[in-house]
This record gives sequence, C-alpha cells and structure tokens, in this order.
Amino acid sequence: MKTAITEMFGIEHPIIQGGMHYVGFAELAAAVSNAGGLGIITGLTQRTPELLAKEIARCRDMTDNPFGVNLTFLPTFSAPPYPEYIAAIREGGIKVVETAGRSPEQYMPALKAGGIKVIHKCTSVRHSLKAEQIGCDAVSVDGFECGGHPGEDDMPNMILLPRAAEELKIPFVASGGMADARSLVAALAMGAAGMNMGTRFIATKEAPVHQNVKDALVKASELDTRLVMRGLRNTERVLNNKGVEHLLEIEREKGRQLKIEDIHDQVAGVYPKVMIDGDMDAGAWSCGMVAGLIRDIPTVKELIDRIMADAERIIRQRLTGFLDGAEQKPAAARAIA
Ligand SMILES: Cc1cc2nc3c(=O)[nH]c(=O)nc-3n(C[C@H](O)[C@H](O)[C@H](O)COP(=O)(O)O)c2cc1C
Repeated sequence: MKTAITEMFGIEHPIIQGGMHYVGFAELAAAVSNAGGLGIITGLTQRTPELLAKEIARCRDMTDNPFGVNLTFLPTFSAPPYPEYIAAIREGGIKVVETAGRSPEQYMPALKAGGIKVIHKCTSVRHSLKAEQIGCDAVSVDGFECGGHPGEDDMPNMILLPRAAEELKIPFVASGGMADARSLVAALAMGAAGMNMGTRFIATKEAPVHQNVKDALVKASELDTRLVMRGLRNTERVLNNKGVEHLLEIEREKGRQLKIEDIHDQVAGVYPKVMIDGDMDAGAWSCGMVAGLIRDIPTVKELIDRIMADAERIIRQRLTGFLDGAEQKPAAARAIA
C-alpha cells in the first residue's frame, strides 16, 4: 500500500508505532521497522542523551530499515535537557522524530537542520494546524480513545479525523483506538494516510515488557480504562488497577484543591514497576480503550502482515462488494479480528 506517509518515511506499510514510555526500546522499534512499519524509540525513557545514543545504535544493529525517536514535551517533575537529546538524535542519523505534548516550535530549527522529518502528535484540529504552520511534516491525530494523554477536548476520532482532513494540507495518521485492518481502512476512509498504534503493539511477542502486562491487555475489555489527572488539565487514560482506584479516591477527596504532589506515589516511578516487575497494581500507566480489541499476543510481523492482508480483503471484497451489489454474509461483515 502506498500513501503519503509510506512515501514520506520510506516505509512499506502505513503503520507507525507510537512512542511509549518503558516500552519503546530498540527491540520493539526494530521489530516494527523490520516488519515494514515505522518503529519509534521513546527518547525520554533513556535517562540521559548518552543512553539514548546507545539505544539508537542498538536499534541500528537490529534493523536496516528507517526508525524514529519520540520526544515528549510534557510537564515533568524535572525538565530534561532537550537540546542534548536532539543532538544525540541527529548524531545517531535519525531522520524521523515523533514529537508530543507541548509544541515543538522552539526545537524545529535544530530538528530541521538535521534533515529530520517531524510528525507531531495532536489531540485537536487547532494544534494540528499550528503544527503545520510551524513546519511539521505530518501530524499524528490522536483521538479521545487513545492510551496516554488525550488532551482536554474529549474529541473521538470519528469526528476528529474528518475535521483534520478538512483543514490540514500536510498528511496525517490516525492515532488512538487503532488495532487492526478495520481501524486502518476506516482511518484511510476518513482522510488519514496511515495509522499510529500504541497499546496494540504492547501485546506482541517482541515488546520488551513483563508478560503480566501483555496478559492484562488480552484480559481487559474496552470498559477497563480510566481517566486520571483531569483536575490538573493533564488528563491521562490508564488501565484500571488498585493503585489507580486509590488515585481516583484521592482526586475525589481533594476536588479542586488537588495538586500533583497529592498523587505523586500513584503516577511517578510507576512504569518500571509495571513494565519490568509486572506489578499490575502499582499505579497509573497509559493504556487505550483499544484493549477491548486485543485478543492475542502475535509477533509484530504476524500482526502487521495480518493487518495488511485483512485491509486488502476489506477494500477489495467487502467495500467493492457493496458497489457491485454482491451478497454479504453477516459473519464476513464482522470477520476481521
Ligand atoms: C504504555 C504507553 C506509554 C506511552 N508513552 C508515551 C510517551 O512517552 N510519549 C508519547 O508521546 N506518547 C506515549 N504514549 C501514547 C502512544 O504513543 C500513542 O499515541 C497512543 O498509545 C495511541 O493510542 P492507542 O493506545 O489507542 O493506540 C504511550 C502509550 C502507552 C499505551
């Protein structure tokens, strides 16, 4: 399949793996890129720019295909040295950076001087337009369903994607709630040139996380995520667990007086406990509603091959079948999983 995104990033399939804290290590990024998608290393999971340089080199040893790095500009407890991280990205020969959180405007000159394509993750049309205006090459349009930070507009992809298509000149991918061929074809129908998946890629053989995390995703339904930190205007969609229930209790008690310090133990330092130790009750970790569509733990290549084969079947048989007036079996209409 050829789209503006496959051409822009030099990849075979229009599928991107979003940056994920404590998941987006070289193993996963390389597996996605080897399978023809665009793998992304999560920059800030590497505690220093030097460690990021090593992670990029490790990934380069595992794949000859293009891969990118995610740089997240979020309010954190201590601001990371972004210029040094960008230097490591440039020196590592990376040609795609996924930015997220605050606008990457102040870092655009440094990224562009390195010949880097920038895809900025946005949860609204206005932020997408701003990204276009400051010179981003593409946008990852992230709907309210998404794992992680859906913003404060609560706009699901059925509305957000067609609105983005109406306004944007640069290409965009659909992000949030994407799991399979149905997601990809729907995203293309709504004007996207591909899709970005986070949560789905965690439930793969190569994702370098504890087996408990993968099993929890297979077990979870679409009803099992919660929104935390709404009162701080830093909303995050997470998988429910004992730590999250405690966090929500504190949020209810404190109401408008809530400060980040009040929930420090439930949101800070949780990722290594979950992803490395497999402690599934440790607190808030990002997870999308798409957990309800995850039923297995394939290899990344099996997942991507299946998506592309099913997408072709949906387009060539189911959709053109409607135009040709061919009879559709009800089971075939639901078929793709
Ligand atoms: C465990 C996890 C960690 C994430 N960490 C980051 C991150 O550090 N930076 C970022 O920009 N996005 C992060 N995301 C968001 C993903 O890149 C992606 O935008 C999102 O997962 C898409 O929604 P989906 O989970 O429904 O596919 C994270 C998502 C998950 C599930």
